Amino acid sequence: MTIQVTPITPHIGGRMTGIDVTAPLTQEQVKAVDVGMDKYAVLVLPGQAISDEQQIAFTRNFGPLQNGANATVKRPELRLDPAFADVSNIGKDGLKLARDDRRRMASLGNRLWHSDASFRVIPARYSILSGRIVVSEGGNTEFADMRAAYDALDARTKEEVENLITEHSQIFSREQLGFTEYLPDERAMMKPVRHRLVRTHPTSGRKSLFLSAHIGGIVGWPRPEAMSFIRDLMEHATQPQFVYSHKWTQHDLVIWDNRATMHRVRRYDDMNMVRDLRRTTTKSDGPTAEQEAA
Ligand code: OGA
Ligand code: MN
Repeated sequence: MTIQVTPITPHIGGRMTGIDVTAPLTQEQVKAVDVGMDKYAVLVLPGQAISDEQQIAFTRNFGPLQNGANATVKRPELRLDPAFADVSNIGKDGLKLARDDRRRMASLGNRLWHSDASFRVIPARYSILSGRIVVSEGGNTEFADMRAAYDALDARTKEEVENLITEHSQIFSREQLGFTEYLPDERAMMKPVRHRLVRTHPTSGRKSLFLSAHIGGIVGWPRPEAMSFIRDLMEHATQPQFVYSHKWTQHDLVIWDNRATMHRVRRYDDMNMVRDLRRTTTKSDGPTAEQEAA
């Protein structure tokens, strides 16, 4: 089988065929995925009916795994192996989460534009999302190209953002949705981390805006000024010409590079439809900025 990639939009997204991700990959296949990722930042691999074990094995080809389990969900309540981010709307019993379920409140954060694990000192490299049960209406995942968005900034703004450091926490993203109820130990776990606002991709060499709903401030700036600037940059970066909206077909495997993109899920009728998507994630190379002493 020869691997082929067809571009989906002028900036971002490629459809990759000729690879079976349920089988062990050759070095050449791993390389082809990495090369495709550097170019397209999002790859869609259709028709990949994959098991959890196979998804974990596939993910390991692209670096150390990042724990995906939500910090606010206790281990015995997890439906999936803790390597997974469970982005479904069902619980361990297979039933849809109630409207006021805390896990549902937390996952509603995925409706805001974000970069995965940007609230961690070492944020995510690839996210690999498998469509096990998809919905017929709504529930698209949208991706915005943070490289193209950076490139399109005017020279003055590029200079202004170049060395800015932002603070990220899940508390900030959930606060935007009015979710503020945490136990003291949860708050401690969600202590803000620092990241550069502009980063250079280690292999493509392209600069990108490191934006995310988890941002709650810019170091040295008054908070309202920081947040209004971040909001302007978000608006800029998510204009239609930078975005690919993925409509899911069952067994799609979608891979994105969190170092080059933001993403969000669109609303769907999660009270009446089951959507079971399972994400594995790899870690990026290291911190993007020095951290404040603990
Ligand atoms: C994720 C995520 C979006 C979706 O898996 O990181 O944000 O479409 N999910 O469920
Ligand atoms: Mn996400």
